[in-house]
Amino acid sequence: MAIARPASVPIGAIAGPVLGVETSCDETGVAVYDPRRGPGAGLLAHALYSQVDLHAKYGGIVPELASRDHVRKTLPLIREVLHAAGISARGLGGVAYTAGPGLIGALLVGAAVGRSLAWSLGIPSVAVHHMEAHLLAPLLESDPPTFPFVALLVSGGHTQLFRVDGVGRYTLLGESLDDAAGEAFDKTAKLLGLGYPGGPAIERLARDGDPGRFDFPRPMTNRPGLDFSFSGLKTCALNTLQQEGDDAQTRADIARAFSDAVVETLAIKCRRALTETGLKCLIAAGGVSANGRLRERLAEIAAGLGARVVYPRPAFCTDNGAMIAFAGALRLAAGHREPLAFKAYPRWPMAELPPAA
Ligand code: KG4
Ligand code: ZN
Repeated sequence: MAIARPASVPIGAIAGPVLGVETSCDETGVAVYDPRRGPGAGLLAHALYSQVDLHAKYGGIVPELASRDHVRKTLPLIREVLHAAGISARGLGGVAYTAGPGLIGALLVGAAVGRSLAWSLGIPSVAVHHMEAHLLAPLLESDPPTFPFVALLVSGGHTQLFRVDGVGRYTLLGESLDDAAGEAFDKTAKLLGLGYPGGPAIERLARDGDPGRFDFPRPMTNRPGLDFSFSGLKTCALNTLQQEGDDAQTRADIARAFSDAVVETLAIKCRRALTETGLKCLIAAGGVSANGRLRERLAEIAAGLGARVVYPRPAFCTDNGAMIAFAGALRLAAGHREPLAFKAYPRWPMAELPPAA
């Protein structure tokens, strides 16, 4: 069945602001983005409900609890965001929702709500790839980067370097062969007795650490290529903890050595990616790109190459609805539409995405 669309609206044009719904993991994110406004001015409202407290006592995300909480929070957040944007649901021009990759039960909540809402309003909807949304998030800001650029995607589930030539024109340059950087932060935080999520906790503890006490390896930097491997660093942290005892200072020193190793490895590979592609712009996105030390190091390597480094604002490095509304608006403008039989994809390689133009 075709999606009802007012006859006056040609495919590609969007008749109003786009609602974005993110429920792929442990944050319910909702936003309204109006693509008819200029760069940096399109975001009308956004809200986030984090489930961190819900999962903290389990030391990680419990998928079934995540799904149930999205069921409770998605509709109230949509109402809140529409109110803050000063529009009614009838004023929307499209709905974008995260369809993958992520936790299947969690994804299905946002997909079902987003697709049904679009159907009931007679407006188009589009399934958004969560990592594409992270990658495009820096373009939401004023003074956005222009294509082509190198993108470092560092989240809880992914560590990837891409050459980006346009929306949907992504060439994978390298990726983690085992744990993602964020996953390594989370696992190491757990063995250091820190809470979930581990990245911010390790970043805080590492500030008290002595950088000279332990020297962890920079995995896979001594050989050519742009792939990563982070699982050995967590083992390194565990062995060090067992050998050195676990007083507070030792934990801080391990956090520092671990964090320096991850940050330096990411920085070395980003420098290599910029050098090999000859591009002069790097964007970094995903939860780990909120890390202050990583930002300092990437700024240094970019400056050394006469390149620019661009990030989303810190709140849009981690999961959020704004990046979904924005990526969805770009895809809707390119004519992409989701049929009524919507799906969610726990795994969804970015290489499968079609170019948007
Ligand atoms: O992008 P994101 O919110 O969710 C996924 O798509 O995975 O990323 C979450 C990940 C978690 O592993 C978290 O520990 C990490 O990002 N993270 C950080 C920081 N803030 C979040 N890692 C290092 N330093 C941080 N400041
Ligand atoms: Zn994410």
